[in-house]
Amino acid sequence: MTSSVTIQSHDGVAVLLVDSPPVNALGIAVRYGLRDGMREILDNPAYGAVVVACAGRTFVSGADIREFDLEMSGPGLDEINALFENRSKPVVAAIHGVALGGGLEIAMGCHFRIATREAKLGQPEVKLGLIPGGGGTQRLPRAIGPVRAVELIVSGDPIDGTEALKLGLIDEIFEGDPVTAGVAFAHKVLTERRPFRSLRGDDSKLVPVRADRSLLTEAAAKAMKRNRALDAPQACAEAVGWCLDAAFDEAVRREWELFARLKDGAQSKALRHVFFAERNSSKITGVAADVRPRKVNSVAVIGAGTMGGGIAMSFANAGIPVKLVEVAQDALDRGLSTVRKNYESTAARGGMSMDDAARRAALITGAIGLEQVADADLVVEALFETMQIKKDVFERLDKLAKPGAILATNTSFLDVNAIAAMTKRPYDVVGMHFFSPANIMKLCEIVRGAQTAPDVLATAAAVARRIAKVPVVVGVCHGFVGNRMLLVRIAQARKMLLEGALPQQVDAVATKFGMMGPFAMSDLAGLDIGWRSRKDSGETSPIEDALCEGGRFGQKTGAGYYRYERGSRSPTPDPEVDALILDTSRRLNITRRDISDTEIHERLIYPMINEGARILDEGIAERAGDIDVVWLYGYGWPAQTGGPMFIADQTGLAIVAERLRYMAGLDMDETLRPAPLMERLAMAGGTFASLK
Ligand code: COA
Repeated sequence: MTSSVTIQSHDGVAVLLVDSPPVNALGIAVRYGLRDGMREILDNPAYGAVVVACAGRTFVSGADIREFDLEMSGPGLDEINALFENRSKPVVAAIHGVALGGGLEIAMGCHFRIATREAKLGQPEVKLGLIPGGGGTQRLPRAIGPVRAVELIVSGDPIDGTEALKLGLIDEIFEGDPVTAGVAFAHKVLTERRPFRSLRGDDSKLVPVRADRSLLTEAAAKAMKRNRALDAPQACAEAVGWCLDAAFDEAVRREWELFARLKDGAQSKALRHVFFAERNSSKITGVAADVRPRKVNSVAVIGAGTMGGGIAMSFANAGIPVKLVEVAQDALDRGLSTVRKNYESTAARGGMSMDDAARRAALITGAIGLEQVADADLVVEALFETMQIKKDVFERLDKLAKPGAILATNTSFLDVNAIAAMTKRPYDVVGMHFFSPANIMKLCEIVRGAQTAPDVLATAAAVARRIAKVPVVVGVCHGFVGNRMLLVRIAQARKMLLEGALPQQVDAVATKFGMMGPFAMSDLAGLDIGWRSRKDSGETSPIEDALCEGGRFGQKTGAGYYRYERGSRSPTPDPEVDALILDTSRRLNITRRDISDTEIHERLIYPMINEGARILDEGIAERAGDIDVVWLYGYGWPAQTGGPMFIADQTGLAIVAERLRYMAGLDMDETLRPAPLMERLAMAGGTFASLK
């Protein structure tokens, strides 16, 4: 027995109680505890039945993911489940909170399962690039039928207690304390002499699908549609399929082999990194654990443009009423109507019910005049990206907002300190940088100004989480973390066009990697905004300027780096653009050369990693993992690669630095030289991850 698993005696029923905070993961100590405890209970004639239950906020939440990077040791779930499946004493799992992954697998080794209505039961391994490795692919089909099982295992999405009862995954719903409920249920089993069944020996739910395998193949194909680039969904479907024709033990053996292979593969390592990076990003240096976020019950968003509307929708989607504030009625009407149309088209596509769409739209009310923010606990300014406009608005907000209100600016580049300085309460000012489309993209960069108060930071992060965003705290600089690195990426992409590549070639490399190409992305965002601001600043971008001078502003004009058929968003390469690019290179006396896909890949990624190193060194991002989270949730970076900084660590910083030096020489571009932090780490054989 270990201290994380104990045996409690309750009137002839043994309770095998797991107490391993924070989430009762199945680390080695817990597995030893379960195995040894169960042996002891089976040997002790004083116990007539067993309840497996957990202390704390949840049942077992799955394998201890941190152990996946270590040599596997200690008892496996097959050994524990073999004991649970004994024929001498009934075993009841009493589930509260979540039973995920290995947690559900051990529950399925028990003869009975009871759960709270709100409990979440599922096999989320696919989200970590894995398949269930403790018999889940074989027991779940036997519990609920292979069709529903493949849907759950391939998607990784959990079901609640109510649905679990309907599907036959659990026997009963309980309320209150799991130990009390589990013991009461065990007594009932004993009194009623209920027969107890082991899922491993019950093939009854497999029969219809064994007769018609297409039921399973169709369900699997449908479930796999969502994420084709990943290995795990396919592997999950394959493993579930074994329940139809392999003997149980043979299928479980194969499942373990496949699990182990995926666990050691690159995709799962990257997805595990993402899991922890996302959780670590919520830890904010300088904000003590006892700092309480302020109450936010009322929200005002200033500006009913695309960004403001999207931000307002994010609040409404979380059930939070929001006031959309504009200066002029027509702008407000336009904004509200766009919001309504967005909801209606989502409902028309089946994304939500019409009622739901109407309910959410109704949570957004329009208001004219800045004085309307007076009762808001949180004001989010989402106006044009012009410093003077923002300064004027914050100067006025300072006089209009109530004391203690949080004043957030949704700026993508500007100096939050300069904006905060317009108020007499710079400690209440923070950046909340949403990403377009704001109602969809999950990232919110929380920009910490020089004077932002800790509880304001904590509140902004908590609010972001409440509206289902992933907050990452960043420091003040031009473009913060995401856009600062994006600028470097775009600069390289544009250079490559001048040197010999075409937009479709560059974008194809990015698409193959798993994200939208820089030129398709520019067309989507619109080329004209950058063109106008370059005109003001005197900067140039020869090819893009020429496109804009020809009226090619991107998707909105049906032409940009690509051509777009009327009503279509898919880019078609355009010979006119190819000619314009060739002509521009000639005009600038640049001798074009073949650029390989490998060079494109490296030039799109390594310079931005280099900028990431500077960002880390300057303390703009707290951790390399934070930078990865920014790119994953703000720019659609493929999760199975872990993010740019993770790629750098996996590639080896010495190699990345070497390639950067080569690029710097080739391009005569000193900014490409490895940043001092990268040089230091490369010399010492270190990694970005090792910094914190
Ligand atoms: N292994 C190791 N650590 C885990 C873990 C696991 N399976 N699940 C959670 N943790 C850790 C988190 O890293 C976090 O640690 P930290 O406080 O040091 O950052 C802590 O437990 C709390 O997790 P968090 O996600 O912040 O709590 P939550 O209440 O929001 O969610 C869960 C709890 C269990 C629902 C969620 O953590 C989860 O989904 N875990 C993974 C479940 C899973 O995939 N299981 C199958 C593994 S193969």
